[in-house]
This record gives sequence, structure tokens and C-alpha cells, in this order.
Amino acid sequence: MLEKINETTEFLKSAGFNGPQAGIVLGTGLGGLAAKIDNPLEVDYSEIPNFPVSTVEGHEGKLIYGDFGGKKVVAMKGRFHYYEGYGPEDVVLPIRVLKYLGIRHLFLSNAAGGVNPLFQIGDIMIITDHINLMPNPLTGKNDDRIGPRFPDMSEAYDRGLIEKALLIAGKNGIRIRTGIYLATTGPTFETPAEYKYFRIIGADSVGMSTVPEVIVARHMGLPCFAVSIITDLGVEGKIEYITHEMVQREAEKAEAGMTRIMTELIAVT
Ligand code: HPA
Repeated sequence: MLEKINETTEFLKSAGFNGPQAGIVLGTGLGGLAAKIDNPLEVDYSEIPNFPVSTVEGHEGKLIYGDFGGKKVVAMKGRFHYYEGYGPEDVVLPIRVLKYLGIRHLFLSNAAGGVNPLFQIGDIMIITDHINLMPNPLTGKNDDRIGPRFPDMSEAYDRGLIEKALLIAGKNGIRIRTGIYLATTGPTFETPAEYKYFRIIGADSVGMSTVPEVIVARHMGLPCFAVSIITDLGVEGKIEYITHEMVQREAEKAEAGMTRIMTELIAVT
């Protein structure tokens, strides 16, 4: 694993990805932020050694390095999902590479279903904690050079970053929610009974990503900040037929608010 990480890291350094301070993972319909990166260097995932190739529509599959919020950043436009058939280790290799490139913070976004009955479609939810119902990407032999066997998860989402983001949202008049994100493997959306169950066990939003990435980031001691864009509702009486295209469309509509928060947050970290 470490050999693969080093090989990929060296490849990207020689492509000019030097000393990024922040990593950004852009979720479904949320790739618009990438266009705001100045002086971009772009590499297709298919050209990066050891990177899996993204297969989902709306996930372009590019790594972009450049200036954003006054910092050098690396953004993943398109991520890898467990449901695509990759092993849990493959899904998270890019996150490990970002850390080895030198990022100090990881910023993530996703499109998610809202199971909190107070939520509305288009809401931006800052993730304060998660419930993992996916296979854990740290399963298997641990490499102590990367991180400890039993990583702490008491503060998976950095409290200081959450506080700063809440202030930024307030200052910009962006309505914000906070809550707990639950990760399932997908690729099916939930049945009404499953949405209800996820609400009962403590979730506010549900989706098919982010948590494996946060787990490996925390394994390496990397502080994380993540937001869900609520693209549909898993609330009794409000559940409607849903497609991936609808998720994409709703995420795109809320993208500007999320990009503003990320820009200002990265500027102050
Ligand atoms: N469930 C799971 N994943 C999702 C959803 C959902 O309702 N919406 C967007 N991603």
C-alpha cells in the first residue's frame, strides 16, 4: 500500500502538484467549484498510476491543482464509490495520496438524502458526526507507518472548522443545517422503511460516500470538514420517486452556497 501511495505521490509531484495546503473532494453535481481554481493543472484519473477510474455520470474524474481561497489546493472532481466495485482500499487511495502530497486539511462534499423532518431540498448541512454502515476501509493488516491500528473517532469532523464555517455562513446569509451523515454502500436509494430506520438510529442525512474517506483521513491525523447538500427527502409523507439525475440537478442548484463557504473557510485555515 505505502509503495503504491509513494509511486502515485511522486508521479503527481513531477506533474507539478507541489505543496498543496488543502485537499477538496467534490461530490455529485458539486464539481462547479473546480472552475474557480486559478492557474489550474489538471490530470485525468486515467493517467494517474494506481488511481481507479470513476464510472459514475456527473463524476468527471480529474485531479486539479491550483489556487483557491488564497491557498494551493488539490481538488478531486469525481470520487470513487464502494458500489462501483472497487475494494475499500482502492476507494481511499487518492485520499492517502493527498496527505502524502502534504495537505493539512481535507474538505469534502456530497449529495445526500435528508431524513431529518425539518430539512428541505437544497439545504446545506455541515456534517458534525457520522454513522458508518459501509465496510471499513481500514479492515485488514494495518501499516503503522500510515496510521495506528485503532484510530480515534471522537472528533471525526474538526470542531474548529465547523465553528468557522458556521460564522462564514451567517455572515453570507447562507442558511445552514448541522447533523449526522449516515453512509450506506448503495447503489440503491432507500426504501421508506430504511429511511425511517436511519432516522431512528440518529441520522440527519444519508448517502453513499465521504465516510470511508474521512476514516482514512483520520487514520492519518488529517482534520476533516464535510458538507451534505440535501437533494431529496427520506421523510415519511415526503418521499418521492428519485433518480441520479434529480440528485445531480438539486446539488447543482445549491453549489454556489457551498463553494462560498469552502472558499472562505480554506482562506482562514
Ligand atoms: N440516499 C442515498 N444516497 C443519496 C440520496 C439518498 O436519498 N440522495 C443523494 N444521495
